[in-house]
Amino acid sequence: MSRLSDEVRRRRTFAIISHPDAGKTTLTEKLLLYGGAIHLAGSVKARRAARHATSDWMQMEQERGISVTSSVLQFEYLGRAINLLDTPGHQDFSEDTYRTLMAADSAVMLLDNRKGVEEQTRKLFEVCRLRKTPVFTFVNKCDRPGESPLKLIDDVERELGMKCYPMMWPILDGDRFVGVYDRGSEQVHLFERGEDHGQSRVGTHTGSLYDDHIQAAIPDGAMNQLMEDLELLDMAGAEFSREAFLSGEVSPVFFGSALTNFGLEPFLRRFLDLAPEPTPRESSTGTIDPLKPEFTGFVFKIQANMDPKHRDRIAFVRVCSGRFEAGMQVKHVRSGKPLRLASPTQFMARERTLIEEAWPGDVIGIHDRGNLRIGDTLSADGDLEFGGIPRFSPEHFARILISDPLKRKQLDTGLQQLSEEGAAQVFYAESITGPAPIVGAVGQLQFDVLLHRLEHEYGVRARLERMSYVAARWVEAPPAEVDRLAGGHGRMLVYDAKQKPLVLFDSEWTMRTTIDREKEIAFHDVAP
Ligand code: G4P
Repeated sequence: MSRLSDEVRRRRTFAIISHPDAGKTTLTEKLLLYGGAIHLAGSVKARRAARHATSDWMQMEQERGISVTSSVLQFEYLGRAINLLDTPGHQDFSEDTYRTLMAADSAVMLLDNRKGVEEQTRKLFEVCRLRKTPVFTFVNKCDRPGESPLKLIDDVERELGMKCYPMMWPILDGDRFVGVYDRGSEQVHLFERGEDHGQSRVGTHTGSLYDDHIQAAIPDGAMNQLMEDLELLDMAGAEFSREAFLSGEVSPVFFGSALTNFGLEPFLRRFLDLAPEPTPRESSTGTIDPLKPEFTGFVFKIQANMDPKHRDRIAFVRVCSGRFEAGMQVKHVRSGKPLRLASPTQFMARERTLIEEAWPGDVIGIHDRGNLRIGDTLSADGDLEFGGIPRFSPEHFARILISDPLKRKQLDTGLQQLSEEGAAQVFYAESITGPAPIVGAVGQLQFDVLLHRLEHEYGVRARLERMSYVAARWVEAPPAEVDRLAGGHGRMLVYDAKQKPLVLFDSEWTMRTTIDREKEIAFHDVAP
């Protein structure tokens, strides 16, 4: 077997989707702990905190104590090379968070056992649905009492319209978590709270339901409840279908606790079995298989000014096929120009390491001086282009105002470049030369970044006048119909940089009623 197919087979590239506080940071640390990438869980956080004093890219980051950068963590586990695409946390929720999911082959949806599906989980899940990304569900914090497992599963099925297949089932003695039952192997894993607050891997007591030591450890009430639940699950359900999972229709569900490491090892093992290896991607010349020997990849994120000393930008490229080699020459398909990929980096937490080679599923960082854009294809095999990265409809809107009218040209240039880079979206009420442009973002932080960069990179001091719109939809209809949408309470018609019309809405309700009424018009939450 070739080296390429070996490396492809070994790779699992995924992201964690969750609402703030569900335990993403904790789970990430623990995965690294199990992967042997760090010795003491907690050191990612500790190092993050320690490095903060000398933190890089903007003062804002220091002032607010937030992390704007997201990283890619690569670690080995049981012979597999795992790429965890770390999505930014809550205050810094932005379009980048969505785009990162475009580079993942699967996702782990992390739920708090008291809260189930929350707002941000739902938004991120929608992006997975768009690409039919396979989603694992991990119900976290089971070391403390939470909602009943049946209710949590019902929540996922109802809220997200995705079927669930419990791979593990929690064993509960009233509120107390006793362990989990693995429906595949029919083994019980008993929960033991470690002495060191989860800083090392946990030993588990494992055995069959009928082993004496297992029976002795599970109180009668808990055993009866488990039997009842299992019967219910068996009655409810068909066999687990990997195919349905791979097409995003069914989610295998796990229960555990990232903090105490409980349930992580069985989860990781099943994850490695089930998660897809790098998947073929659609391109302008057909499907590109990862085993295609020539290197291809696409840019899914651009990080500006990670290090103010260098004033550089880093384009994050997901390798789709072939072997990538440092220094190789590829074609930047959009411009048609050759590009030498001289000093690619890989990211480990916030440290960068130079790399010599990379394989499908990996993410490499390319230094860029402003040539690359989100969605660009790099190819060592001619002109193929991967389907672009969608633009997602913003939820925050503001007019952007300058006090010095002579700066309008710089403002327009800055907005154009920053929007191409994906920092925010720009809209116009009439034409580009018309009144103040409108900027839209998925997360509030994008606005702060935008103002900061306009000032420091384009010399334009601008301020924002917030608008009360909360949602937007691109519309497809004959021009007369589109114009008709301009009138109407709580709505505004605008055009994006490509002159595509969108309607902004002041509430979900206005949006719903408009969409319901205007049956002839197609509304899209992703740019058509
Ligand atoms: P996030 O990145 O998704 O925002 O969540 P994070 O890991 O920071 O976890 C949020 C809080 O939930 C933390 O508590 C964390 O310790 C706790 N947590 C994570 N996993 C578990 C779990 O399995 N069980 C329980 N009981 N708690 C869990 P905190 O008090 O906010 O922070 P810290 O002082 O513990 O760091």
